[in-house]
Amino acid sequence: MDQRSHSCQCKCCGEQPDSGRRSMLTGALALAIASSMPSGPARAERSPKPEPGDRLAFMLGERAQQEIKPADIEIGKEPTLAYPLDVASGKALISRVSLLVVTRLKPEDLLPSSKPNAADGIVAFSAICTHYGCPVTTLHPSQSQLVCNCHGSVFNAADRGAVTAGPATRRLSMLPLVIRDGVLEVAGRLDGPIGPPT
Ligand code: FES
Repeated sequence: MDQRSHSCQCKCCGEQPDSGRRSMLTGALALAIASSMPSGPARAERSPKPEPGDRLAFMLGERAQQEIKPADIEIGKEPTLAYPLDVASGKALISRVSLLVVTRLKPEDLLPSSKPNAADGIVAFSAICTHYGCPVTTLHPSQSQLVCNCHGSVFNAADRGAVTAGPATRRLSMLPLVIRDGVLEVAGRLDGPIGPPT
């Protein structure tokens, strides 16, 4: 049976403390992602995936689709969900494949695998969990790892998105960033596949 087609029966989906609130948050985010997808033919000529020179825009909140400044991303704060911001059009590129999770690490936590892709400690990854595709939304108590609340996978933001706890088995794709003249920019492309193995 394809496990993706039925409700998960694993223990980690059940009675963890705080799991109800997190499940609601994850469900609401998944709905927001789905409802933000363009319903007709592709509106943008370019791919929605982040490209060098793009900036980043908030997915949610009062500043949704507005540019993220470096000072907006603080160490120890919950990760920020973001979309690429196309500079030419000034529009956020809203798509599931372009959804990013952005956080800021302490400089001493960054490992050599992540350091070249970080901008003053700010790192970005595809937010689509490589297990079953839920959005990765939560900062681990270590403050250097990211958690998917659907089934508890943990990804090390300090180590290029490596899996530190399953059920996911594949790391998150990392997006290189740079700060140029005070502006947070995309410096490369996602360095791996997005979402679960197919
Ligand atoms: S979708 Fe299962 S851990 Fe993320």
